[in-house]
Amino acid sequence: MRVLVVGGGGREHALCWKLARSPMLTKLFCAPGNAGIAAIAECLALGADDVTALVEAARAQAIDLVVVGPEAPLTLGLADACRAAGIACFGPSAAAARLEGSKTFTKEVADAAHAPTAAWARFTDADAARAYIRAQGAPIVVKADGLAAGKGVVVATTIAEAEAAIADIMEARAHGTAGESVVIEECLIGEEVSFFALCDGTRALPFAAAQDHKRAFDGDTGPNTGGMGAYSPAPAFTPALQAETMARIIQPCLDEMARRGTPFTGVLFAGLMLTVNGPKLIEFNVRFGDPECQVLMLRLADDLLPLLHGAALGRLPDAPPRFADNHAMIVVMANRGYPGAVVNGSVIGGLDAASRHALVFHAGSVADGGAVRAKGGRVLGIAAAAPDLRAARDAAYAGVEALDWPEGFCRRDIGWRAL
Ligand code: AMP
Ligand code: GLY
Repeated sequence: MRVLVVGGGGREHALCWKLARSPMLTKLFCAPGNAGIAAIAECLALGADDVTALVEAARAQAIDLVVVGPEAPLTLGLADACRAAGIACFGPSAAAARLEGSKTFTKEVADAAHAPTAAWARFTDADAARAYIRAQGAPIVVKADGLAAGKGVVVATTIAEAEAAIADIMEARAHGTAGESVVIEECLIGEEVSFFALCDGTRALPFAAAQDHKRAFDGDTGPNTGGMGAYSPAPAFTPALQAETMARIIQPCLDEMARRGTPFTGVLFAGLMLTVNGPKLIEFNVRFGDPECQVLMLRLADDLLPLLHGAALGRLPDAPPRFADNHAMIVVMANRGYPGAVVNGSVIGGLDAASRHALVFHAGSVADGGAVRAKGGRVLGIAAAAPDLRAARDAAYAGVEALDWPEGFCRRDIGWRAL
């Protein structure tokens, strides 16, 4: 099969790395890819959001399956356009991708499916939002309703903090039009887990769980990021909790999407809070997590390609995919300043040395002659799998130590909760 992966981050590098091992693969493309992906796939210089150009390229290259990494092209209708062109696509339609694009929509689907989630209310008026916050009290969670690159959420410990979030999101429009409305939620208490399920429109199969670290600095301090590291499995997420999540959250929401005429195909990423009353849904994403995907790919024992192709065609296999009985960890190396402004162009050394200890997934890198230069916020992910989490951590950090990139930084405490 000829496969095109869309995206150019660490998640897409991991998807390409795993797909490249499939005996079913004949040729792998990635658009736009990055310096690491270029070693295992033919990179096409197309924007991941350029739906028209991507479908044209898929046609020209006789692609059998398009695998979409990030959410943006999905919300723009890339999966719809592929299917209209007769090309199988792993990823939801634009209508189903609203599960990530709109927090209100997700809440409505979860409520209709009777899936456990935080109590909530939506406001388009800032004064009404403030009145609700004062009535509910703190802690309370304020979210910009639209896509805000994972940054439009404030978990407020005081009423003043929640009111400041309203001013920021709705009045100062810190996240642009995503702040036209806000969702205000009950604050859930517990351990957070990322759970992934493969969906073919009607059926869902459990994939695996991971935990990530969203704050920029050690001790879970500093600003929220896309994720600074992750590990899998998530020890708190027992097989019983996984079964409960499939039965009470994933399958009912999948059924509700089908009932609405917008069946969900692709990977459903459930952000869960493991509360004393069981798992509760925080949010859905309509794609693999980054960097969670990287550790899942390291642990997946089965061939990824027939799984993604089966989901895309509406015929997932009967049995859930198998994972190695091991532990994987990834440590993200970010460009100094991330998640704020960064300077691009610094040279990354020691990549070969790092590769002797761990797998190096590229996220924001460009090849420049013989050099590899940083481009973007999250630049590399250093990942390893081992029989236990401690050994996986040691290997990943040995890879980090071998790098020669003074402009980069990482967290030193990935996995602290599980270790
Ligand atoms: P989201 O962008 O919806 O994933 O939210 C970002 C982070 O905010 C989540 O990963 C949680 O840590 C936190 N969060 C979101 N909603 C809630 C909630 N209702 N209760 C507690 N924490 C939450
Ligand atoms: N690491 C969290 C995400 O991909 O949204």
